[in-house]
Amino acid sequence: MGAEPVNVNEFEELARQALPKMFYDHYSSGAEDQHTLKENVKAFQKIMIRPRILVDVSRIDLSTTVLGYKISAPIMIAPTARHKLAHPQGEVATARAAASCNTIMILSYMSSCTIEEVASSCNAVRFFQIYMYKRRDITAKLVQRAERCGYKAIVLTVDTPRLGRREADIKNKMIAPQLKNFEGLISTEFSSDDGSNVEAFVRNTFDASLSWKDIGWLRSITKLPVLIKGVVTHEDALKAIEVGVDGIVVSNHGGRQLDYAPATISVLEEVVDAVKGKVPVLFDGGIRRGTDIFKALALGAQAVLIGRPAVYGLAAKGEDGVKRVIEMLKNELENTMAFSGCPTLKDISRNHVRTQHGIL
Ligand code: FNR
Repeated sequence: MGAEPVNVNEFEELARQALPKMFYDHYSSGAEDQHTLKENVKAFQKIMIRPRILVDVSRIDLSTTVLGYKISAPIMIAPTARHKLAHPQGEVATARAAASCNTIMILSYMSSCTIEEVASSCNAVRFFQIYMYKRRDITAKLVQRAERCGYKAIVLTVDTPRLGRREADIKNKMIAPQLKNFEGLISTEFSSDDGSNVEAFVRNTFDASLSWKDIGWLRSITKLPVLIKGVVTHEDALKAIEVGVDGIVVSNHGGRQLDYAPATISVLEEVVDAVKGKVPVLFDGGIRRGTDIFKALALGAQAVLIGRPAVYGLAAKGEDGVKRVIEMLKNELENTMAFSGCPTLKDISRNHVRTQHGIL
């Protein structure tokens, strides 16, 4: 592709060209038949926008707040693992892009730069994502490090009692590089018969017995707000409120965990209805266009997270690529708001979208 990319999908193509096949496959693929991965994107196509006319849209304001932090647009960076496979500067480049776009980055525990390196590299508002480990002392230490380094919230990912079967990684014999944040507390070398060692790593370190009662423990060891990521039903949204979480991320891990989990946009509204505004509901899965963001906001999300789009920007053009991906999505969202008669995010309502009854 000679010309500069004009949308996120073109950034994906550039990333595909830039990366070794094993890494591109690792980022782009999902679990098993990849049905959920594809549905995350396709389900947006079943939602139409109901534009309102003759509204003054000469000024459009995209800014919003998440947990009290003002950001320039409702677009945050999802936690994704191992950015150094995409670019030598890794998460430091991603965080700098987030800072220059004035938005929030959620750093993955599985990052290839440390909690401290990312914190000292820029002044972006950062949240830190963790899994719950069998060794609770590891979880506690990671949370303390994040707190010490000025991360503003802990995001506990709850859809990973074990790793989804990612067949591309198995075929490519994807071996996870050493994780920087692990403090050397577990030195076991993980290997697996099925080709990739990522599954073995998760099986040996993540706590599959994690349940609702453990959320209280996590809340007790930190002053930071705790969000849970991986809610896709109203039943679990109600439980999450009951145990006192400070926010919910509607997510199916970008189709990398349970295949045939519903497309996230198709369950956003049921979660939002259950939550009743008590805590912010964030959303991820399949965001590739500003219109997708508009639809998620109309169905009640406070903001969206982008996973793969940011990684593709990073792989294609480093920090500048991530920045351009965010700016593209911001511009597309702004356009959508202008065409739809919504000068501010508060003007975007449920009435601005039409979902096909029974499908969504
Ligand atoms: C992820 N995701 C993820 N989530 C998480 O909580 N911790 C993690 O370490 C990772 N790692 C990760 C790596 C890669 C390569 C991908 C693609 C995804 C899931 C991520 O946070 C988010 O839920 C999805 O990526 C959102 O879907 P899109 O935006 O990629 O369609």
